[in-house]
Amino acid sequence: MNLIDEIRSLLSSGANDAPQKFCMLLRKRVPYYNWVGIYILRDNALHLGPWDGPAATEHTKIDVGQGICGLAAREGSTVIVDDVNKDPRYLQCFLSTKSEIVVPIFANGKVTGEIDIDSDKPAAFNQLDRLFLEWCAELLSPFYSTR
Ligand code: SME
Repeated sequence: MNLIDEIRSLLSSGANDAPQKFCMLLRKRVPYYNWVGIYILRDNALHLGPWDGPAATEHTKIDVGQGICGLAAREGSTVIVDDVNKDPRYLQCFLSTKSEIVVPIFANGKVTGEIDIDSDKPAAFNQLDRLFLEWCAELLSPFYSTR
């Protein structure tokens, strides 16, 4: 099965552990996706949910407006940083990270979470990654909808 079909079938299953498996699948199948996580928006802060990577991040709670994650949540749009070491807004998790993409997850028109991916490769993320991950975010939306 190709990755698109695999993601569609995984996330449409509605299984509770599907977002965790989604993180694992992305990291396994895309060589330059070195750390893949989902943050959940609650009380104006982003809380780390499922993730997959070689190491845990110390940033398990990020206020909206802080870091690249908080910026994407505040703006409600995807943020790509080609060189994290040149971006003063960046909150460092891993020394190996060179670039990052953060893609908001929306439910009922509001940000409810986001996909955060770190790459060890500089300028790893292009518009195709953005379109692909925005599509993934739509499929993740039901898991993070507000009640
Ligand atoms: N770099 C992020 C923090 C999260 S870690 O990358 C997992 C930021 O600047 O918001």
